[in-house]
Amino acid sequence: MAVMEVRKKHCWERAEADMWQENSFVAFGGDVSPQPTERATLDREHYCGKATMQKEFDTVWTKAWLIAGIERDLEEPGDFITFDIAHESILITRTEDGGLSAVYNVCQHRGNRLHIQPYGSVARAHTCPYHGWSYGLDGTLLNVPDRDRFSPGVDCAAKSLKSVNVGTSNGLIWVNLAVDPLPLEDFLGSLVGELMPYRLEAMHVVREQTCELDANWKTVIDNFAEVYHVDFIHAQHASFVNCRDARVDLFPYGHTVFRVDGYVVNPRYPVPDEPPPILSGALQALGLDPGDFHGRVDEIRRAAQVQKRKLGARAGFDYSALTDDQVSDIWQYNLFPNTIMTVKPEEVWIMRQRPHPTDPQKCFFDKITLAMPVRQSDDETSLVLIGDVEAAKAMKSGQRPEREVFTQADVTNGSMSMTETVDQDIFYLPYMQAGMNSAGFDEAVLSDDENRIRHFHDWLATWMAGQIPRPS
Ligand code: FES
Ligand SMILES: [Fe+2]
Repeated sequence: MAVMEVRKKHCWERAEADMWQENSFVAFGGDVSPQPTERATLDREHYCGKATMQKEFDTVWTKAWLIAGIERDLEEPGDFITFDIAHESILITRTEDGGLSAVYNVCQHRGNRLHIQPYGSVARAHTCPYHGWSYGLDGTLLNVPDRDRFSPGVDCAAKSLKSVNVGTSNGLIWVNLAVDPLPLEDFLGSLVGELMPYRLEAMHVVREQTCELDANWKTVIDNFAEVYHVDFIHAQHASFVNCRDARVDLFPYGHTVFRVDGYVVNPRYPVPDEPPPILSGALQALGLDPGDFHGRVDEIRRAAQVQKRKLGARAGFDYSALTDDQVSDIWQYNLFPNTIMTVKPEEVWIMRQRPHPTDPQKCFFDKITLAMPVRQSDDETSLVLIGDVEAAKAMKSGQRPEREVFTQADVTNGSMSMTETVDQDIFYLPYMQAGMNSAGFDEAVLSDDENRIRHFHDWLATWMAGQIPRPS
């Protein structure tokens, strides 16, 4: 459905809010303040400039921990993924001892990429397709064809693949290109524990998409850092989430979270007597009768929490460590610098922005959908709990889905979709970018309800100034 049609269909008169988003600074428990020390200027250079792009590479992309992939993709020795960031490519492999090796995806002979596919598996070695140099799973140079033709000889130890830092947390693989990085556990702090009940490590990839966007990576992050736009471009949300009273926590290093109540109507609008169509559909999916909620729309969230716990147990989903809020609500973590993670107990979206290698006004928008495994014998209960039903059904085949790569035009012409909501965002992002690249644009002006944007950019400025604190 086109963006404007959605708006017309769902929009009704909007009142001024009598409550507002709550914003709180939250420390990780150590002595690192959640407050950044620098202040960013959100101007044309910040979003469009090549100098800013280069500085971000030097101070952020090569200094911060980045999500490179999903640990489940590397179950067996020889399984590998590649992760491209700006002009670099990193190769991560499960080694024979069960560990992980992360190296630059660069052959030491004359620099060819060892792998160009996003994931795969090798038996014992990575072999460069150009002249056949081969490297062990840990990156050690093993074999050089016609080795005696290299007159001075080849020192295998010196010509092994160049390693980078790698770590795991919450089922995700993280890499860091710095020589002496901030430890991953300090970088993530209490977020590791917050995410633990969702058990990402038990989930499977059910869909993976990359959209090539005509927008700076930060333009996309900003879009997913505020709900000020939701009533306007996602009018359908007013009938199933409460964005007005979102709770926001602002963490050290630039991470943030939104906690948005689900299974409710937005209280900016009159509460209807009957559940609106989207909530009715959600109730029916949970096996509840919307007719039972006549005049009781404000009781739906609690009913959904109770019913989801029942259905979850039947589907084999373990909700025991989740609070009731986590069962019904949509929490969205923005993990500095480039990942937006929307978490629900059955399904997680990892939306990662990667900068283009040369053009600051382009980026790659990856969306990886993880879902709890569906049992072969299941009676479809688990499928209704997982939002992306088609993808979850495909999971039953046991095949990991291939990465779909497409452009913004493919989304706007309807041939590809990243869900109705994300498609609506994608429609606007290139226009935001074009506007910020105009002589008619001075600097972004932010409301208190856009504090996540301010927090992210001020921490970005702090990283760019090389002022990253470490816990003592
Ligand atoms: S560039 Fe890899 S073997 Fe020659
Ligand atoms: Fe949006």
